[in-house]
Amino acid sequence: MLSLVSLVAFASASLAVKPIHSHNDYTRAVPLWTALNLSIMSVEADVFWQSNQLYVAHTSIEINKSKTLDSLYLANILGIINGTIASPTPISVANPLQLLIDFKTDGASTFKPVQDALQPLRAGGHLTTYANGKLTQGAVTVVGTGNTPLASVIASNPRDIFYDADIRKLYSTKPATGLEWGPEIAPLASVDYSSVSSTAQMQELVLNAHDFGIKSRFWDTASNVGTWNTFFAAGSDWVNADDLQAVSNAWATFDSSAKGMIDAAYQKWDALQAEANVEEL
Ligand SMILES: *[C@@H]1O[C@H](CO)[C@@H](O)[C@H](O)[C@H]1NC(C)=O
Ligand SMILES: *[C@@H]1O[C@H](CO)[C@@H](O)[C@H](O)[C@H]1NC(C)=O
Ligand SMILES: *[C@@H]1O[C@H](CO)[C@@H](O)[C@H](O)[C@H]1NC(C)=O
Repeated sequence: MLSLVSLVAFASASLAVKPIHSHNDYTRAVPLWTALNLSIMSVEADVFWQSNQLYVAHTSIEINKSKTLDSLYLANILGIINGTIASPTPISVANPLQLLIDFKTDGASTFKPVQDALQPLRAGGHLTTYANGKLTQGAVTVVGTGNTPLASVIASNPRDIFYDADIRKLYSTKPATGLEWGPEIAPLASVDYSSVSSTAQMQELVLNAHDFGIKSRFWDTASNVGTWNTFFAAGSDWVNADDLQAVSNAWATFDSSAKGMIDAAYQKWDALQAEANVEEL
């Protein structure tokens, strides 16, 4: 367990970023731009590898040939970073974008095409990268989810497609023999909220993830202010949002008291841990 002091430091630092994730971002009125307009720096694209293209769609029958990972996301992101496309919010090392790529087709055949599609961002030095034992923050952190093959993520060198881990299994299942979970493999860990039994368990999972330096996300959550506030108060890092404006409004209102509530949650947790340790002695 991390000490209370470092947990509180983490909570304070994380307040600088809006803890909002644009779930299935490609379904927004204007993919990517609806999020950037609200300074929401985490977006998600479902991707199908088909006919030598990476199509962005929810299901294979909804594929529209004009909507590819490159046309909706990668070309715009590169243009924003290199200054050829104007954006309401910069994408930079200081204000990085998390791009979740949800592999809908099988991992083995989809991984290499995604790696190839990222080449212009990679060549520009814009991707968060792990190499030679060092994690270097870039303007864009790519996280594979869905069918993303963990072994391919671990094997890639340099590594610039990261992994969305199962937040319930960070302590119980190692990523590979001899490796521990950490942001150099999984900057993000998630779970379907319907498999979480209570707010207290959710809080525990958030703190477990933070022990590993990993950020938390719960999907399949209810969509109302009370629910979003519960996640904000727990220090959950990427609150799943479909109505980006509504969740932004909730965060703006919550913000004034957030620090105190998050600190209180950590203090409560730390006290419980201290109690547990005393019992063990
Ligand atoms: C972004 O904001 C600008 C300025 O307010 C507005 O004109 C534009 O329609 C917005 N775009 C999206 C996708 O929300
Ligand atoms: C495909 O997407 C484009 C761009 O949004 C749109 O203009 C077009 O109508 C779509 N095609 C179909 C078949 O839905
Ligand atoms: C800047 O981004 C645009 C849009 O993606 C791209 O066409 C262009 O090649 C990029 N230029 C550089 C120098 O990376």
